[in-house]
Amino acid sequence: MKSKGMFITLEGGEGSGKTTMLQLLSSMLQEQGIDCLTTREPGGIVISERIREVILAPEHTAMDARTEALLYAAARRQHLAEKVEPALKEGTIVLCDRFIDSSLAYQGHARGLGVEEVLAINRFATNGRFPDLTFYMDIEPAAGLARIASGQGREVNRLDMESLEFHNKVREGYQIAAAMYPERIITIDASRKLEEISGEMGRYLFAALKEFAV
Ligand code: TYD
Repeated sequence: MKSKGMFITLEGGEGSGKTTMLQLLSSMLQEQGIDCLTTREPGGIVISERIREVILAPEHTAMDARTEALLYAAARRQHLAEKVEPALKEGTIVLCDRFIDSSLAYQGHARGLGVEEVLAINRFATNGRFPDLTFYMDIEPAAGLARIASGQGREVNRLDMESLEFHNKVREGYQIAAAMYPERIITIDASRKLEEISGEMGRYLFAALKEFAV
């Protein structure tokens, strides 16, 4: 199947299983002979990696919330311009781990900057490019953090060190984003078994791809 470039993002709180699902979705596409690019912010883009190091360094506890939001938006812009847009232009399907909704949930709602305000700076950063489809992997924050703490996830960063209350707000923020963009964001119950989750996401993915087929 040939397709127009389609931009798909995966979102969710810590330990929601996004990264595992991204790999599974990519394998599903490849099995059907469909090329895709899997990436994550900052996506191996040197400039964005440098920005990310500044954001996530555990010693940067003095970072102001607006600075954090602007830096995420800046890193997003560079990754989008250097990697995502060129791939979409070539008709490639792009699967990206985290994008604009992370900023709406973490900076907009959990940090209390305001979802609309953070959306405004991200509109500038993305120049209006929104994902065509977003999977929001919803899980009770305590369960997600427990997965990371038990070593099934990745190393601990500055945002993991936030309180459970913060992560509960992140979840609320995602729910707000999902209500704002019902045509784009699909909420997936990520507390279930991996096969159930991947089965459901695969069905949504292939249904959406039909619309993008050329
Ligand atoms: P990362 O190591 O990529 O974690 P994960 O595996 O959970 O994706 O860390 C990214 C951290 O940055 C994560 O705690 C979420 C946070 N984040 C924001 O707060 N805003 C954003 O716009 C993005 C992209 C990430």
